Amino acid sequence: MAHIVGGLTTSHVPSIGAAIARGEQNSPYWKPFFDAFKPVHQWLEKVKPDVAVVIYNDHGLNFFLDKMPTFAVGAAAQYDNADEGWGIPVLPSFKGDPDLSWHIIEQLVDNEFDITTCQEFKVDHAFTLPLKLMYPDAGSNWPVRTIPITINSVQHPLPKAARCWQLGRAIGKAIESFPKDLKVVVLGTGGLSHQLDGTRAGFINKEFDLLCMEKMLHDPEALTKYSNRQIIELAGSQGVELMTWIAMRGALTGHVTKVSSTYHVPISNTGGAVMLLENHQEPALRAAE
Ligand code: DHB
Ligand code: FE
Repeated sequence: MAHIVGGLTTSHVPSIGAAIARGEQNSPYWKPFFDAFKPVHQWLEKVKPDVAVVIYNDHGLNFFLDKMPTFAVGAAAQYDNADEGWGIPVLPSFKGDPDLSWHIIEQLVDNEFDITTCQEFKVDHAFTLPLKLMYPDAGSNWPVRTIPITINSVQHPLPKAARCWQLGRAIGKAIESFPKDLKVVVLGTGGLSHQLDGTRAGFINKEFDLLCMEKMLHDPEALTKYSNRQIIELAGSQGVELMTWIAMRGALTGHVTKVSSTYHVPISNTGGAVMLLENHQEPALRAAE
């Protein structure tokens, strides 16, 4: 059976790509953020996942405001990046895992999630940069196959936190019922607090970000009690990217422990947060759910 080995959350601001391209990882501005990936690299080296399921929000590369699925799952053999206009390098294509994708899609629809299935899927910075941060030396030979899953955080109405948690739960159960021996890492990319436009542009709420990070480990369902309006008030209009964290955490259906956690503010306009959680399979715990 496939097994979810862990969950990784990270901010995905495009200027990470520019910092990598310019070799600024050790500059005073960027070092605290890039250093957060040292324990992640050690863990990846030890655990060696086969597949990364990447839960993120598309920013207009694959979907635009005219057609915006609430939840979408990729089912392609390959995913390409493209120029989004941020002036950052386009990263090499990623391999998919269509068998696992279709299994997840079938299980989600069976569990009454009416997702959009995408056999073509352009992946944006929110997908590519976290993988580049995980595997900085990979070149065009990424060590994991990938599956993109997007949550609309752009075009209102947005899905509620509680629904994203349930989606994550269903994704987790789907992965763990896939009859191939695979190690799967689940990513939730985005956040934490940020607002890119309007009168509160530049808004960051460190206190709320740290609260979210604390709840992620032991009490993630506390985060599902916030309404979208409350999250926007507390974390800024792009702070709703927190939904990707909530869905990732929902997918961890075993006993969860923290490997590492770093918060550094700001990176660009964003509360920069990286968290790596390990998921230990304890059938007794899971059966009790
Ligand atoms: C920034 C953050 C984001 O999440 C994003 O998608 C684009 C830009 C920023 O802080 O600049
Ligand atoms: Fe974003």
